[in-house]
Amino acid sequence: MTEDYDRLIQLLERRHSCRSFAPDPVDEKTLQYLSDAFALAPQAGGKRELRCRFITDRDAMRNLAERGQEAFNAYCQNIASTFVREETMRYGENFFWFGEAPVLAAVSCRKAPTFLEKSIGHKASLNWGGELSAAMASFGLLLAAETLGLGACCLTGPLIVWHEMESLLDISRRDTLILLIALGHKRIQP
Ligand SMILES: Cc1cc2nc3c(=O)[nH]c(=O)nc-3n(C[C@H](O)[C@H](O)[C@H](O)COP(=O)(O)O)c2cc1C
Repeated sequence: MTEDYDRLIQLLERRHSCRSFAPDPVDEKTLQYLSDAFALAPQAGGKRELRCRFITDRDAMRNLAERGQEAFNAYCQNIASTFVREETMRYGENFFWFGEAPVLAAVSCRKAPTFLEKSIGHKASLNWGGELSAAMASFGLLLAAETLGLGACCLTGPLIVWHEMESLLDISRRDTLILLIALGHKRIQP
């Protein structure tokens, strides 16, 4: 056992998903610290061109959550089976709450190259490793957020309407959106 190990375990134990934020903005310097932590993670192949873009504009954030919710509602209405529709709607209850978060990080990576998809099919993205690299980098960001006194929560649920989310977030067609991370100062419970 080392002091570093103890500190790491304490940090891992302290981190919990936060879904309720104070309205205060997160300053640029803090966002840079988060980006630095994100960039330090190991990446498959040395580099899979991970991106972590921060959305901080309140109106853009609300619009994103509202448009995502609308797209999800429309998607559900088109599900023919009552059972599948109701289960999907229930499944989606915790997807679009992020509209009031002060910051949303959109994490994306370069898609696996065409030759790999032709060669090994649906396992190409696992072999390419971009998505897993994005997950590792995101965990670095979550831990950094905790050390900086911020709360955070990963979201992949909104990607159920991935086409709309990628379009609203202006994700390049060469990239794929992996997850969103809602961030901000934790709301102090009264
Ligand atoms: C890949 C991933 C996707 C997640 N997606 C969502 C989501 O769409 N909505 C949500 O409210 N929480 C989401 N979460 C947060 C989990 O619900 C949370 O991490 C889990 O309940 C464990 O709680 P903890 O983070 O406090 O340890 C996600 C977490 C991960 C790792």
